[in-house]
Amino acid sequence: MPRKAQSSLELALVGLLFVALMILSVAILGKPWRPPVASVHGHGVDLVITYLLVATGVLFVAGHLLLAAFVWRYRGDGPSIHRPIAPRFEWITALVPVLLMTVISEVGVLAIGRPVWGQVYGPPPADAFRAELVGKQFAWTARYPGKDGKLGRTDPKLIDDENQLGLDKDDPAAKDDIVEIGVLRLPQGRPIYLSLRSQDVQHSFSVAAFRVKQDLVPGLVQHARFVPEVAGSYEIACSQLCGLGHYRMRGLVNVMAPHEFDEWLSEQSSWMESY
Ligand code: CUA
Repeated sequence: MPRKAQSSLELALVGLLFVALMILSVAILGKPWRPPVASVHGHGVDLVITYLLVATGVLFVAGHLLLAAFVWRYRGDGPSIHRPIAPRFEWITALVPVLLMTVISEVGVLAIGRPVWGQVYGPPPADAFRAELVGKQFAWTARYPGKDGKLGRTDPKLIDDENQLGLDKDDPAAKDDIVEIGVLRLPQGRPIYLSLRSQDVQHSFSVAAFRVKQDLVPGLVQHARFVPEVAGSYEIACSQLCGLGHYRMRGLVNVMAPHEFDEWLSEQSSWMESY
């Protein structure tokens, strides 16, 4: 085969491969690959992820097309020639990508991500429902305020086989608290402000459907803030390697209609009564 025909064939093959790869990527990315969003701020998190994937994807493809164009344009086996270019042009070709990347990564992400950041890490709304989730090797325990609407005092020194969260019996706010192991129940559509504590090592409260992930650090009270949008049952996965039983440290979040939740909560006996 003459050399010219052969290189045309090579180009056609490479081009075909490139187009096939692009079609495959779009086909894969076009399908839903994330669990359906079940919290209000989750849509914003997904928007940031999509934005970054599209922006970096476009840059990646553009960069490779440019690379391919240069490879094609300067192919051949003649001697290498050094062609000096104007310093001004050199500066432009260096600065334009830097500015472009800065705008894409900083300005774009900040514009889309800032409101979401506020929803997740800003101060909780006054009407937020406050509950607590405690992690320990290898289970989750939920605590809800009783009729007074307040979570009572706890002290690690008070922990024993029966009082596993170390609630203070002398605190009136603690006496009527409700404790349940393995399931976290939440009212749909209400802002939630969840306190997170660990009783041993570091764990992580992770609910993919809520787009929430927060570490539990022994000795600290961490918080997770979100609004469950869709009623249903979701998995809590511990996402910090916390010991041999880490893989089975799962729990459930049950998001219930607000009236159902209120009814359920009012029917529960306090931890002291079931002591
Ligand atoms: Cu707890 Cu992993």
